[in-house]
Amino acid sequence: MEREVVITGDGSSTIHLPQWNEQYHSKHGAIQEAYHVFIKHGLHHYLEVQPERDEISILEIGFGTGLNAFITLLEAEKLNCTVNYYGVEGYPVLKDEITQLNYPSQLKAYDKAPLFISLHEVSWEEKYNITPAFILTKQKRFFSEIEEKEQYNLIYFDAFGARVQPELWTENIFQKMYDALQINGVLVTYAAKGSVRRAMQVVGFSVEKLPGPPGKREMLRATKKS
Ligand SMILES: C[S@@+](CC[C@H](N)C(=O)[O-])C[C@H]1O[C@@H](n2cnc3c(N)ncnc32)[C@H](O)[C@@H]1O
Repeated sequence: MEREVVITGDGSSTIHLPQWNEQYHSKHGAIQEAYHVFIKHGLHHYLEVQPERDEISILEIGFGTGLNAFITLLEAEKLNCTVNYYGVEGYPVLKDEITQLNYPSQLKAYDKAPLFISLHEVSWEEKYNITPAFILTKQKRFFSEIEEKEQYNLIYFDAFGARVQPELWTENIFQKMYDALQINGVLVTYAAKGSVRRAMQVVGFSVEKLPGPPGKREMLRATKKS
């Protein structure tokens, strides 16, 4: 499918899919959305409710541009927490696209630009210590192939929207996510649709509606309670 790199409202780049009129991130701001949904209401929340943790495993549904992974890498250093990060992706971005992404400069992490590139350059299916606090395993597979049980503490659920990929917002997928999480594990997503919330609840999640990032009223956070 055709893809083009475009600039969002906060100046950070994203990838646009013209055929679907869909983007990898909010048009109001890619970095803004990633921080709000996945870092503030995901990573920070998880470490607030589990303050004794100094290690966390994160599954990302849709590694895409590597933005969520890069921000998590930057946060891991500040939080004094080791992150084991598993990024699943079926359709990896291309070298030419990666060079157009402006995340290191937009995040004023100029000295970390080589690390952003290495997130993309490391091989699939192998574990890499990108930094002492950020260990990455990229997995080139489809979301339907996820079969892990009780492995992760936190899931960044960042699939394309239900308008274009309704099959990724079903009970079937959320059952896989529920099974893959440890007890007290948390899933965060930018979506807030009633049908998505109900699918999460049917498989056993406790679901909270939270304020969304700029341009979006609400988002969802789901917890696997014991
Ligand atoms: C919204 S984008 C993810 C954005 C990403 N988190 C980032 O920070 O750039 C959704 C991603 O899911 C991938 N994808 C779509 N359908 C998939 C599937 N069935 N299995 C695996 N990956 C899929 C797309 O290629 C895309 O990279």
